Amino acid sequence: MKKDWMIAVTGDKGGVGKSTLVALLAEWLLYQGRSVHIIDTDPNQTTQTWIDKCTNFGRTISSKDGGITIVDTAGTSGSSLTKYIRHADLILVPFKPHIADLEVIVGWFLSLKESLQSRVLFIPNMLSNTKEQKTGVAEISAVIKEETRGQLLPGLAERKAVYPTLLNGGKNNFFETNIDHKTREETQQLFTKITQLLSE
Ligand SMILES: Nc1ncnc2c1ncn2[C@@H]1O[C@H](COP(=O)(O)OP(=O)(O)OP(=O)(O)O)[C@@H](O)[C@H]1O
Ligand SMILES: [Mg+2]
Repeated sequence: MKKDWMIAVTGDKGGVGKSTLVALLAEWLLYQGRSVHIIDTDPNQTTQTWIDKCTNFGRTISSKDGGITIVDTAGTSGSSLTKYIRHADLILVPFKPHIADLEVIVGWFLSLKESLQSRVLFIPNMLSNTKEQKTGVAEISAVIKEETRGQLLPGLAERKAVYPTLLNGGKNNFFETNIDHKTREETQQLFTKITQLLSE
């Protein structure tokens, strides 16, 4: 595996779980013994605040010594073409499979040049198994098929008691805490796939 991987988390849509995914992925990689370097380009500094909270608990999250760089972006139009996204090996795009959100996400994806589209990994988030959401996920699959670029990864369920508490920080790695079986299973499925793609 080459040393300096970069993963950007973006998508031009606010409040879909980008910062949560950055923190979760960082925790997963740290749990696997990797080192991560996190860059928070969002003026709201959600991820940086989480890092600072963890630092106050005596943990080191982000270090600049190689490893995997993870970039969080602001959920506003225009963030999509920052230099980080252009240089990212993988572009993670969490999305809520709602009609209104899909319009933004699909429009954003279609506006990307082909070389960037190929690196896009769509991640359905806050899944609650409704018919509307299933239709939404199917729509993304159809767009990926038409464009013949991008991939749809396994998603994360809506777990209000689990994922929102992550960004409060804590003295232990998220994966060392007493998380339930389903959370462990879905995160493992998602992150195993992402690390596989990195090593390809
Ligand atoms: N799978 C999930 N289940 C339940 N709540 C979630 C899940 N993913 C994210 N959330 C919650 O949704 C809210 C938005 O998440 P987050 O801040 O990660 O989104 P964002 O895309 O980074 O937002 P912004 O565009 O403002 O940066 C937060 O309160 C977060 O805890
Ligand atoms: Mg954010």
